[in-house]
Amino acid sequence: MRKLWGGAFGTDGDALVERFGQSLESDLRFWRQDVMGSIAHARMLGAQGILTVDESQRLIGGLEAILAEGPESLPRDVEDIHTAVELRLAELVGDVAGKLHTARSRNDQVATDTRLYLRSRLPELQSSIKELQRVILTTARDQRRTVMPGYTHQQRAQPYTLGFHLMAHFWALQRHGWRLANVDTLTAYSPLGSAALAGTGFPIDRFATAQELGFVEPIPNALDATSDRSFALDALHALAALMIDLSRVSQELVLWSGVEFGFVTLADSVTTGSSIMPQKRNPDMAELIRGRTGRAIANWVALASTLKSLPLGYNRDTQDDKPPLFESLDLAADALALTALMLEGAKWNADRMRKTMKRDFSTATDLADLLASRGMPFRKAHEVVGKVTRACRERGIGLEDLTAEDLARLAPEAPGEALAALKPERSALARNSVGGPGLKAMQAQLRRADKRLKAPGFSSPY
Ligand code: ARG
Repeated sequence: MRKLWGGAFGTDGDALVERFGQSLESDLRFWRQDVMGSIAHARMLGAQGILTVDESQRLIGGLEAILAEGPESLPRDVEDIHTAVELRLAELVGDVAGKLHTARSRNDQVATDTRLYLRSRLPELQSSIKELQRVILTTARDQRRTVMPGYTHQQRAQPYTLGFHLMAHFWALQRHGWRLANVDTLTAYSPLGSAALAGTGFPIDRFATAQELGFVEPIPNALDATSDRSFALDALHALAALMIDLSRVSQELVLWSGVEFGFVTLADSVTTGSSIMPQKRNPDMAELIRGRTGRAIANWVALASTLKSLPLGYNRDTQDDKPPLFESLDLAADALALTALMLEGAKWNADRMRKTMKRDFSTATDLADLLASRGMPFRKAHEVVGKVTRACRERGIGLEDLTAEDLARLAPEAPGEALAALKPERSALARNSVGGPGLKAMQAQLRRADKRLKAPGFSSPY
């Protein structure tokens, strides 16, 4: 393996040590960011008179040639991407390549590369979030009158609409977009020019390199800049949190597509058959999203565990921040696109949803509310309706089976029109408090969501 630091070492490296220590495999992800960082550094060295303008230009020319030829021409018998780029540069521009590393270290380089790479992925993830939000919003608009059962404790609670249910996921996604925007805010500061840990005596201009690379400004402390990986930790948290919500959507699709619920049929393209049971339509994509969410959570835990006992100053341990970060980024991107695909092709079975609400007593609260609106204390109304539901259960009927005479006998306080309130449609569509499933309230919610969706980026969590 070719190295950048042979001077003080006698023997050749051990193959196992080299294999265990290399990061080239994962570094190749950000080869471009590594070269861009070097271009900014080389330009600044020339502008500051640390290198001659001619030297600086020859370095930049070589680095631009590497950008143009792509990663295929980079040597692979090296420890990391920084070494690979420098060796390739020497092949292209000769000895002057050895001047590129003036006033910098791989420690500030790798922190810079990781930040640049992470920042390059965030816009694409955010637009995938918006795309999924768009699918949800469109479906929610279509299904704003589709009544379905709502649950608490996984027990029938109150009727609402499919549109209302789906919009809950819209807002979860809005928060994730906003979290990723915050990750970018934190990541947008430059470590470059911190050198190994404590800066340099060369008259470098960290503001110039920060600006060229699109950072807000240099991180004010070189030791912090080279040691900190909290931006990656925040990214892993945001990605895990996003996956947790996508996993919950998946879990619903798994449950709802089964015969017990039968609320939805997933498209052929996102389901698979069984090699033995011909009737099967397995929701594999939803299951895999649910399952791999474990990896996204583990990736946050892995980096947190790596960081927790590190004294300040670069430690090689942090080399391993990258594979989990890359994996979680890829996973979230795929899971977002797959969830959009699943929801876009889903066939919703309104009839079945409606039918499962027969005799489920989920409009009991509406009856109690009606009594309370006539002046009965809600506690008392709750008790009266409790007795009504018990009587119904004893007779094996549902609330909707009550006749006017039944009701007059069981709850003489209830007015005649109470029976109408026991219809799930009426119950769901009448709840117009802010954030409720009623048509009026939903209209306001949908309008707000549309505004958020059309605005660029994610400036607000709601
Ligand atoms: N591959 C290393 C990493 O990812 C690059 C920095 C190496 N620095 C060093 N002093 N060995 O962290």
